[in-house]
Amino acid sequence: MPLSDKKVIVTGGPTYEFLDPVRFISNRSSGKMGKALADESFKRAREIVFIHGPMHKSLLAGIEYRTVAVESTREMLDAVLVELTPDSVLIMAAAPADYRPAEKSLTKIKKKEDELIVRFVKNPDILKTVAEIRSTQFPLRNIFLVGFAAETNDIENYAKNKMREKDLDIICVNDVGKPDAGFGVDTNIVTIFTRWGDRYELPLLSKQEVASRILDCVEKGIECKGEKFLP
Ligand code: CTP
Repeated sequence: MPLSDKKVIVTGGPTYEFLDPVRFISNRSSGKMGKALADESFKRAREIVFIHGPMHKSLLAGIEYRTVAVESTREMLDAVLVELTPDSVLIMAAAPADYRPAEKSLTKIKKKEDELIVRFVKNPDILKTVAEIRSTQFPLRNIFLVGFAAETNDIENYAKNKMREKDLDIICVNDVGKPDAGFGVDTNIVTIFTRWGDRYELPLLSKQEVASRILDCVEKGIECKGEKFLP
């Protein structure tokens, strides 16, 4: 099994971007898809690390593999970079915040005016950063990259564009327009597109089963890497 030689780095959950010591912006990601992928990777890979944003404690109870807790997108990027090795598979199931407040107040913001205008600046894109490292640092050229996308329409077009734009080997698209495929639930509806041209439209499945199908696909990709689609 090709994953038994690999280190799998899975990210999951949201990130928090603080406005002041008590307030942050985030999103509704629960981390369940990432956790399912980490559990499944634990069964198959040589090594697994789960880098996660803030998640419900009950989801993290009893985990037998290494976990790294982070809060912000920049912390998640740093944690991913620390873990990267030439034999890594990076599965970015997290929903890192794309923007952060331009300034973080050191003290709690008091209500004064009728309006509060917050300026946001862009966070680094973790997948793009790793793809760039892969293309410029020769020892890391075999890193395998899996990304996610949440789409409601025109799935194939958006997925293929994102795969190209982020230089991914696999993209897994959540069809968030459908019931039971949204945030926080235990099921998902995913379509997988691969760099080597496969498309798998999965039915409504448990996140554990989706994770297993995604890893099957990763294993297939690792097997044919070097023949068909070396970046
Ligand atoms: N991602 C990342 N770094 C970020 C944000 C997202 O690596 N700063 C990863 C996510 O983990 C996911 C993929 O990129 O694997 C999602 O891509 P993104 O362009 O953020 O998708 P959407 O959130 O669907 O963005 P958009 O609404 O712009 O299509």
